[in-house]
Amino acid sequence: MLTSITFQGKILSLMCISKTSVLVAGFRTMLHVQHCCKRMRRTTLSATLLLASCKRQSRVAFSASSSVQAPDDGKCFVTTPIFYVNAAPHLGHLYSAIIADAIQRYKKMRGATATIFSTGTDEHGLKIQQATKQLRVPPLDFCSDNSKKFRDLFDAFNINYTHFIRTTNNDHIAAVQEFFNVLISKDFIYKGEYTGWYCVSDEAFLTESQVTEKKTVDGVIKVSAESGHVVEWSSETNYKFKLSLLEDDLKHWLKCDNRVKPKRFLYDLRNTVDRGLMDLSVSRPKERVSWGVPLPNDPEHTVYVWVDALVNYLTAAGYPSIPSVWPANVHVLGKDILHFHGVIWPALLIAAGLEPPEQLLVHSHWTVDGVKMSKSLGNVICPNELKDTITAEGVRYLLLRQGTPHADGSWRTKEGVSMLNADLANGLGNLVHRCTGKSLNKDQVFPPLCQDFVESSTHAQMLTKTMKTVKEDVANCYDDYNFYLGIDRIMHLVHCANLMVQEEKPWTLKDKPEELNSVLHLALSAGRAAALMLLPIVPTYATRLLDTLAVPQRDRTWSQIEAFPNASHTSVPLGQRIAPFKKINV
Ligand code: MSP
Repeated sequence: MLTSITFQGKILSLMCISKTSVLVAGFRTMLHVQHCCKRMRRTTLSATLLLASCKRQSRVAFSASSSVQAPDDGKCFVTTPIFYVNAAPHLGHLYSAIIADAIQRYKKMRGATATIFSTGTDEHGLKIQQATKQLRVPPLDFCSDNSKKFRDLFDAFNINYTHFIRTTNNDHIAAVQEFFNVLISKDFIYKGEYTGWYCVSDEAFLTESQVTEKKTVDGVIKVSAESGHVVEWSSETNYKFKLSLLEDDLKHWLKCDNRVKPKRFLYDLRNTVDRGLMDLSVSRPKERVSWGVPLPNDPEHTVYVWVDALVNYLTAAGYPSIPSVWPANVHVLGKDILHFHGVIWPALLIAAGLEPPEQLLVHSHWTVDGVKMSKSLGNVICPNELKDTITAEGVRYLLLRQGTPHADGSWRTKEGVSMLNADLANGLGNLVHRCTGKSLNKDQVFPPLCQDFVESSTHAQMLTKTMKTVKEDVANCYDDYNFYLGIDRIMHLVHCANLMVQEEKPWTLKDKPEELNSVLHLALSAGRAAALMLLPIVPTYATRLLDTLAVPQRDRTWSQIEAFPNASHTSVPLGQRIAPFKKINV
């Protein structure tokens, strides 16, 4: 649709408003643009100028285009949620972090250079305040101890973050206060009354329809319908954010079909916004919640912990100065915190004149016997204990191989061990190990390929056919964050390679060096490709394989995947042979 902006009867500019073109944010922003226009003396004005002018004002221009950042455009800003420090980390927390880590590793393999990968701990709010009161420990000491547990966990599982944000750090507190000041200056904050439900466990204000009754031994209690956590009645004066004014802007942001993955969560958000939004309380009285960031305009109140926490993404980017890496390419989060990231966060950013995130990747939950793993239910699986039995790489592999973003998964260690043994030890590990072992590979080389052999062997042809498409297949899966599907494709390649080895029986080919070399060449090429594609998933394991195959560091990129390493038809010496993954017995 073409929209004209007129001033004193003259058409100043034509703006193309369509799904795929650059748009100004929302209808009110259109009005705002017209207002800007009137203030300008010039009679002709380009759409670009209008947009630039718009960007300087309270609302920001952003695209509803269905294409989001390509993975190889040089910019990569990926985040995990920041984790509550009221308890030690469990497997569910690690899952969010491992997904984000795999994404940033993949984006880097695709050529992204300017990388921010942020994580951290969420240390303010009533939830933490209550935990420290119960334990009678100074809040900051308690937070520091538990924050360190997350850091240690991430180090142990190779989570390669660049920024670890603690909400009790001074730079973050300054960022929160500055952000709040901006919202005040743009007239999005007013003082009001809140009378309704509050869920301490979720740190969420809830409406009557979000609350339900639950029978317990002590009688009927009120709980959050979504999380099942207890709610309490609250009546207090606090500061409110004019969320209701941003409905159109949010609808516009949610127009992009790739904005939220998987799609079911996008539809949930669209429905929420279509039902209408109410203004949101963004502060708590200090006498109730003292463990928080004081409001810059009224120290008798502290900033609502979710606003405080969401600003961590800006802190990571260096706010108040905004580098070119803003906005985040993808926020990774669990489905329980979708509303905060898919409604409140983009609305806050738009109100502050900043671009909302490009994309959200929402994952489902790990359950134990069908129940969400959580500390309050006492059914958590400790990742460190798992690491002792199935290794850190084993945990990473299973979380990404068995976890599907769109549906909850039930964690079963025993089944997982069989999968690890089949895929990593017997499948890929064995393929590379036996083709680099002295009994088959006496010269310890990556041998050349004889094309005639491929033409004579149906299994070799099957393998080369798979090799030709696997890179793109896996990339399509990874681009959609369906790591489980990508790994499935990689394992298919490994099976084809093992089948070829099995059928061609290289141990019988000692007198036919060209054939023997060709079998080894094809098997090792498949192993090389599989290891490269597994780098984002199991970096240590994949690195060991690539070291054994002597793949140079500079070649450990996505674009090198299909390149047959020995195009020159000469033997290339192998690297040091290390057992990549030992079979697990439990
Ligand atoms: N502090 C907030 C996030 C603020 S981000 C601005 C919070 N913290 S949390 O510690 O409760 O959760 C952090 C992440 O762990 C979320 O993505 C959540 O979905 C994830 N998980 C917690 N339990 C989980 C499972 N049982 N399964 C999978 N992930 C789950 O929310």
